Amino acid sequence: MEADHFVSTKAFSGKTVFITGGGSGINMGIADHFAAAGARVAICGRTASRLEDAATALRSHGGEVLPVVADVRDFDAMVQAMEVCRQQLGSIDVLVCGAAGNFLCPAEKMTPNGFKTVVEIDLIGSFNASRAAFEQLQETKGSILFISAGQSFIPFENQAHAGAAKAGIDNLMRNLAFEWGRYGIRANSIAPGFIHDTTGVSKISGPNGVSGLVKDVPLGRLGSKTDVAHVALFLSSPMSSYVTGSTVVVDGGYYLGGSRSLSLVKADV
Ligand code: COA
Repeated sequence: MEADHFVSTKAFSGKTVFITGGGSGINMGIADHFAAAGARVAICGRTASRLEDAATALRSHGGEVLPVVADVRDFDAMVQAMEVCRQQLGSIDVLVCGAAGNFLCPAEKMTPNGFKTVVEIDLIGSFNASRAAFEQLQETKGSILFISAGQSFIPFENQAHAGAAKAGIDNLMRNLAFEWGRYGIRANSIAPGFIHDTTGVSKISGPNGVSGLVKDVPLGRLGSKTDVAHVALFLSSPMSSYVTGSTVVVDGGYYLGGSRSLSLVKADV
């Protein structure tokens, strides 16, 4: 993976991080950086073989990595997975709710079950994980990081289900920040933009490749998994100990929108 060394290898030593969807994509990038920063990492997903492969890669940093198979839609399975984590790695200090499902489909063609499936994985799965981790987070005065997306606040083609789910996640995040602050638990979210080498970007980039996406990004490039992971580590560390209820957008400025259709108009000077 692509973990770098901006972060000390001891920054999270002695800490336990539980990441839903941690076996692939952006979430595995986050897992990789936590492992590089000395954390004990549990990665949770539906597919045992994928988790095992990811765990093998993450162990290259020398720390403990626990793959746990569970579907975030199944609350009892989440409770069980987190208990296994507590017994083997210690109580959870950082919960990352990253598990997500997605497909591109126009709203008028989407079936009710297709809509419900994505809301169940993304939104209800995030609540299930948070609720299942509550007692451990209360004990550690830990933090939760939700993985949102630009669809939460910008309408995207073919994304009615994911947009509804991610908007729900951001509101759940603020509600938990509000209610669980009294227990010392923080909650924040990251809204990644177009991150290269992910399923999401390969699906939406279309025949022109990524150049069609990049032209609308003020920073002029796709993001990397490392761009997202750095913010994840910051939001989970004591450096952000007074930050809760925030969504940090990591998208190179894409969400700003701006006067895109005027960008080719010749300036007066
Ligand atoms: N287009 C339209 N509808 C789709 C679809 C697609 N590409 N993929 C799934 N659906 C619909 C199914 O038709 C079904 O609805 P129906 O019963 O009315 O036909 C419903 O969604 C559930 O699909 P199913 O495959 O049974 O659910 P699942 O729980 O096994 O998987 C997803 C759901 C979303 C995770 C699956 O589509 C998937 O594996 N996507 C790829 C992984 C991915 O993109 N991850 C997210 C990266 S951001």
